[in-house]
Amino acid sequence: MKTILITGASSGIGKTTAELFQSKGWNVVATMRNPGAGADLAQHESTLVTRLDVTDSDSTLDAVQEAVNRFGSIDVLLNNAGYGAYGPLEAFSMDRIERQFDTNVIGLMSVTKAVLPHMRAAKFGIIVNISSIGGKMTFPLGSLYHGSKFAVEGISEALHFELEPLGIKVKIVEPGMINTDFGGRSFDFEMGTELPDYQPAIEGMQKAMGHYAANSSSPDVVSNVIWSAVSDGSSKLRYRAGDDANVLLDARKKMDDDTFIGEMKKNMGW
Ligand SMILES: NC(=O)c1ccc[n+]([C@@H]2O[C@H](COP(=O)([O-])OP(=O)(O)OC[C@H]3O[C@@H](n4cnc5c(N)ncnc54)[C@H](OP(=O)(O)O)[C@@H]3O)[C@@H](O)[C@H]2O)c1
Repeated sequence: MKTILITGASSGIGKTTAELFQSKGWNVVATMRNPGAGADLAQHESTLVTRLDVTDSDSTLDAVQEAVNRFGSIDVLLNNAGYGAYGPLEAFSMDRIERQFDTNVIGLMSVTKAVLPHMRAAKFGIIVNISSIGGKMTFPLGSLYHGSKFAVEGISEALHFELEPLGIKVKIVEPGMINTDFGGRSFDFEMGTELPDYQPAIEGMQKAMGHYAANSSSPDVVSNVIWSAVSDGSSKLRYRAGDDANVLLDARKKMDDDTFIGEMKKNMGW
């Protein structure tokens, strides 16, 4: 029996992935900031629901130790916890900027560091990092979120080289728009109303995002891609999730920067 540890398993992609791995007979360590949100996952006998806030390294070390004590190993780490901060850079306080990077980037590295000694001792492991199409291309007003996800891409690719000789694979999953709490309670949107210079851009972006969100996929689509990444036996690095991810990333690959920026401005009505 293999064991997966998931961060941010209280909702969305983390939760549906916990359910999928439960259904495949895996041990699941469903970690979350508030373990009360995992009561239904905890009903499964091979599941441990425990507290892990990726910005709190004590909670990370405790959760990893609890997982190893209970199941003996962590075969797969799913770094999923994250949220999106969008809006003009100028309008964000430094605290909010730091929170975005502490969660999406430093948090991911902290959990990875805590799990690695166990995977290294076992000479086996798979680390799946949830990036985004927004780790390969940007939307306007997304300097914080895209900065964090571009970082996840770079960290993951470099770790792929570093860890493969030790028997540990690193994989990146790039979802398109997914229908979860991401656009609601996990969206730190800053209008910057006190900065009128940015308002036309924000209005254009809000209208255009409605169009992109209309093509969103269900979180199961991502969970199934995560399952493939874990079980296909390959060393493949990147996996896309969602039809829109394929369309948008293929289009971005074919365009030079000027063309991409021109197309994006057209979509935003600028
Ligand atoms: N939905 C999309 O369109 C989309 C597209 C591309 C990539 N993604 C990525 O997918 C991942 C999951 O998002 P989702 O769409 O499933 O949204 P979601 O349902 O809002 O889930 C976000 C999860 O992250 C957790 N989280 C936030 N900060 C945390 C922290 N400091 N420590 C531990 N957990 C924390 C949340 O926990 P709480 O319940 O405690 O808030 C929640 O479980 C994120 O990395 C996101 O960037 C999403």
